[in-house]
Amino acid sequence: MEQYIIKGGNPLVGEVEISGAKNAALGILAAAVMTDDTVLITNLPDVRDINVMLDAMSEIGVKVERISRHEALITSSSISGVSVSYESIKKIRASYYLLGALLGKYKRAEVPLPGGCNIGSRPIDLHLKGFKALGASVTIRNGAICAEAQHLRGSHIYLDTVSVGATINIMMAAAMADGRTIIENCAREPHVVDVANFLNSMGANIKGAGTDVIRIRGVEHLHSTEYSIIPDQIEAGTFMFAAAATKGDVMVKNVIPKHLEATSAKLMEIGCEVEEFDSSVRVVSTRRLQGTNVKTLPYPGYPTDMQPQIGVALSLATGTSIVTESIFENRFKYLDELARMGGQAKVEGNTAIITGVETLTGARVSAPDLRAGAALVIAGLAAEGITIVDDIRYIQRGYECFDEKLRGLGAEIRQVDSVREAQKYAWRVS
Ligand code: UD1
Repeated sequence: MEQYIIKGGNPLVGEVEISGAKNAALGILAAAVMTDDTVLITNLPDVRDINVMLDAMSEIGVKVERISRHEALITSSSISGVSVSYESIKKIRASYYLLGALLGKYKRAEVPLPGGCNIGSRPIDLHLKGFKALGASVTIRNGAICAEAQHLRGSHIYLDTVSVGATINIMMAAAMADGRTIIENCAREPHVVDVANFLNSMGANIKGAGTDVIRIRGVEHLHSTEYSIIPDQIEAGTFMFAAAATKGDVMVKNVIPKHLEATSAKLMEIGCEVEEFDSSVRVVSTRRLQGTNVKTLPYPGYPTDMQPQIGVALSLATGTSIVTESIFENRFKYLDELARMGGQAKVEGNTAIITGVETLTGARVSAPDLRAGAALVIAGLAAEGITIVDDIRYIQRGYECFDEKLRGLGAEIRQVDSVREAQKYAWRVS
């Protein structure tokens, strides 16, 4: 079982390059199947979720050619079926984006119902409501969602809840529907905009992505394109909080600072200096952080995917902080792990009351999910002594070369695959 072993206490100092956005890439890869022409996608992050998505696409006959670590050619002219396998959807929920993409292109798709996920129950009723509004019949058969239509026709769709997944999935299907679709109460996340820009670069006619109303004129064909994925704002934010929690000085490069505004604002509020440049941000932390309150919200609010990272920073801050999680109901599990390191927090419903401590101490902890796992690594970097983080397969789903990038900033972190190896490392560094 792979683990990270960390000797904490080094301030992170230096420069780090951010990879392409995983969540944008997942939508864009699915959308790439909507043309028969070959599409070149660059700045693809080399992370597990992306590789699983590419496998899911290969399984239905998409030709995937990884021409370099961060570039792939996708050709979907010889798709052999419109049924995505349960194995894929089990590993990665976002393979449900193939539902919207295949439905848009072939007017038929079959994707197993995604199961529960460890950050809370994650319904997809809004995705299905959107497909139905476009004229598809949607049934659940043998554990799979089957969507089909003679013709998809444009419609006026109001999303009851702001949902990234539903916005992207409906947008894809509507891109090849007859006539005009208006989606209201859309998610405004940067990756929604990136998927829309990608579809437009293939000849789609989508306007308003990034606002809460998206207008789409369906087109008959999409064509070849070359497209570079935006930088990952959650990876960037994670390094920004790692700098803050370790009293470091880090230049986070290859970012779009606008996408990081909510994160930067919170970092400044808790006592860090944040300097913005054209495509980088520098975070400097020289003193103990100050507690604050934070509530997760859809973009441009504070992202739920950055909640565990700020939770760890606030665990080391002065005073009491209140963290309210308004998107997913089960995103505080990292606080139980953090308690093993001396963190003090009380969770009541969707609120965590965190009392900052002066120091955390190393312990063996387990990553409960992707972002929570990254947050526990930050805790280990800031803690006194040795921390072992188990279940790092979650972290590897979304962070490219996480340990290597951290080592580049002076962190003492190694990936090991046995307790014995971890012990050897601990002896060596202590
Ligand atoms: C995406 C991101 C995830 C991020 C989340 C919120 C990807 C691959 N994943 O997830 O990292 O944490 O956005 O920013 O991009 N909901 C419904 N019905 C639906 C769909 C969603 O009630 O049909 C609810 C969810 O339970 C949740 C809220 O809407 O409370 C937002 O979820 P959504 O934005 O859809 O998240 P995902 O797209 O799954």
